[in-house]
Amino acid sequence: MGHQLSLYDQFFKVQEKLGERLNPARWDGSFNARECSFHQLAPYVGKLKSGMVRVLLEEFTKEADVVLDPFCGSGVVPLEAALLNRDAIGNDLNLYAYVLTMGKLFPPRSLEEAVRRARDVVERVETEAKREDLSGVPKWVREFFHPRTLRETLSAFRILRKQKDYFLLACLLGILHHVRPGFLSYPASHLTPYLRKKIYPRDSYPQMYEYRDLRSRLLAKVERAFSRPPAMQSFLRAHRQVYQENAMSLPLRAREIDAIISSPPYFGALDYGRDNRLRLWFLGLENYKELDKILTADDTVYLPQMKECLAEMIRVLRPDGYCVLILGDVHRNGRVRKTAEIICDLAGRTQIGERDGWVYSFKTYAILTDEIPDERRSRRNTKTTKNERILIMKKSPLSRA
Ligand SMILES: C[S@@+](CC[C@H](N)C(=O)[O-])C[C@H]1O[C@@H](n2cnc3c(N)ncnc32)[C@H](O)[C@@H]1O
Repeated sequence: MGHQLSLYDQFFKVQEKLGERLNPARWDGSFNARECSFHQLAPYVGKLKSGMVRVLLEEFTKEADVVLDPFCGSGVVPLEAALLNRDAIGNDLNLYAYVLTMGKLFPPRSLEEAVRRARDVVERVETEAKREDLSGVPKWVREFFHPRTLRETLSAFRILRKQKDYFLLACLLGILHHVRPGFLSYPASHLTPYLRKKIYPRDSYPQMYEYRDLRSRLLAKVERAFSRPPAMQSFLRAHRQVYQENAMSLPLRAREIDAIISSPPYFGALDYGRDNRLRLWFLGLENYKELDKILTADDTVYLPQMKECLAEMIRVLRPDGYCVLILGDVHRNGRVRKTAEIICDLAGRTQIGERDGWVYSFKTYAILTDEIPDERRSRRNTKTTKNERILIMKKSPLSRA
């Protein structure tokens, strides 16, 4: 009899092979000038690199597969999946994530159509904005804008929300705040909403505090959004679906998914509501704290909720389907929480019995490490991650129920 590898050895063999194929050099460097420009509609904390997602999709899925990201954030995975002719399903409980992903997956068919739609909205805004009443707008929101710009912005959001025009909503969210002139706010940061009044005081930079018209900025944004559009015909052929549900209970049938690629929330590391509070306010969510309470993050709920999410992932995945999770370590109070190892352990202990009489669980194939250079991190010197780990698992039968 030939030499047989023990399970432990097999794990390392697979890990070694995958490690070679999934060499981070394949997604080195910036993808900003190479990726589909829809990826850049608006920023998102913890956004994945599209180049890495493309490599994972090419390795673990094939054309026409149904790919799910149950925590899709800005929608990098579903957008890349649709670009590669996979059927794409995204889900995120955060309203901002939902709108942004809808915008990317259901764009206008052409730049001409996008510009026509944007012009229609701008024309309405220019007649309706003066009727916008600012007295009900909270002070912290008013502080970001010139009153006339704020009226136009409010009016545009009102119209686009009513029309459910997610693409233009995503464009508008993308130009809401920044220090640059092409944006609507007074000088502020782009990723998260902080005014930059100390660096750019009004006395020294009066032009940064003048009225900023919505028309030129929205139209320029739409042009930028279409600078590298997808090959529309094949993109629109892919089945695309976005949900705004809790990943603990997905509106999907058992076994309808071929592969899951996702970056779940890290152990108590980020506040998706707080970080997006200004964008959420314009989308109608006035109390971002309520959202942060229901997202899976807090230490006390993280493990039990992630266990339910993992059970749900097993349920919707077909047997032998891959589940690839991108996770980071969290440094806090002098402790390092290795989220990938924690989730890997939790996944191995999550089991569900299925109709075919078998009990299924996740079997881990590999945990690979990608070191993130400082410039790619969303927040530096904070409790967020330095290493990104790629946890590769497969839905496997354990035993007869
Ligand atoms: C690491 S981020 C995903 C980032 C995404 N991969 C991207 O490239 O933009 C994790 C996401 O999980 C979402 N989330 C947290 N708890 C959730 C839950 N219980 N159900 C659904 N989504 C949740 C957050 O809103 C956040 O967008």
